[in-house]
Amino acid sequence: MGTVIAVSANKGGSLKTSISTNLAGVISKNGKKVCLIDLDNQGNVAITFGKNPDDLEYTIYDVLVSDVDPFAAIINVSDNLDIIAANDDMAYLEIDVLTKVKKYPKPLNLLSKSIEQLKEKYDYIIIDTPPQMGMIAANVFNCAEDIIIPYHPEVYSFRSMVKSMKAIKQFQKDNNKLKIKAVVPVKVKKTLTHEAFLDSGKALCEQNDVYFSNTIISESIKYTEAVGRYRKPITLATESSKVIDQYSEIYNTLTKELNYIG
Ligand SMILES: Nc1ncnc2c1ncn2[C@@H]1O[C@H](COP(=O)(O)OP(=O)(O)OP(=O)(O)O)[C@@H](O)[C@H]1O
Ligand SMILES: [Mg+2]
Repeated sequence: MGTVIAVSANKGGSLKTSISTNLAGVISKNGKKVCLIDLDNQGNVAITFGKNPDDLEYTIYDVLVSDVDPFAAIINVSDNLDIIAANDDMAYLEIDVLTKVKKYPKPLNLLSKSIEQLKEKYDYIIIDTPPQMGMIAANVFNCAEDIIIPYHPEVYSFRSMVKSMKAIKQFQKDNNKLKIKAVVPVKVKKTLTHEAFLDSGKALCEQNDVYFSNTIISESIKYTEAVGRYRKPITLATESSKVIDQYSEIYNTLTKELNYIG
């Protein structure tokens, strides 16, 4: 049965999509079968792979609310790597589901039901999430095993991490496989503020028995510029350049550190 990994943080722009797409890139390149699912109405997973999320016959929304077979929504994007995209429909998920209690008696278990069959076919199911702690996050925490929390070492992200940890503890009562696999520092700069918030983040993780990653994703405008240029995540780019090699190396190291590849 495949392992379900989700990248989650309440804070926008904290590299959730960059981490989920690049982890998917590294793991699939290493021969494991990966299904990458987008739950964010921004549709950035499809966009990362050069697809228009508004042109697709089925997205994760149809799988969650209309009982569309998850395999019908799958798009193969490279060797060992399939995606299920999201688009703007996901913005209406809560309203559509919560107003039809009879049709959706278990609104927080829609995802776990949908991915059951996928777990048999893939080694890893990687989930990219929106920057919210609402119904979508609850669906994720009800079926994921590993949560990766990106942490931008500043005050907003610190507060968001404290809240995520509390929320995850609540869900662990019902989902006994759920754990925080790691907190990963992102967009790190060599400033005193970042240094101080890295220390506070580490201390918070220690207190809560959570692994704080040694791999740090540093802030770089070069990485920002490279994202979206190749119609695939950087770790799957066939071109070679100093920026691609450096950024890929960070994600290779992170994926190894988290034991997803040998
Ligand atoms: N190492 C980096 N340093 C700085 N910026 C980066 C880096 N890697 C990626 N970026 C850029 O940061 C922005 C946010 O990244 P990303 O979309 O992965 O975050 P997110 O958490 O998924 O955002 P959202 O909450 O909106 O879904 C993007 O424009 C991306 O290109
Ligand atoms: Mg995103």
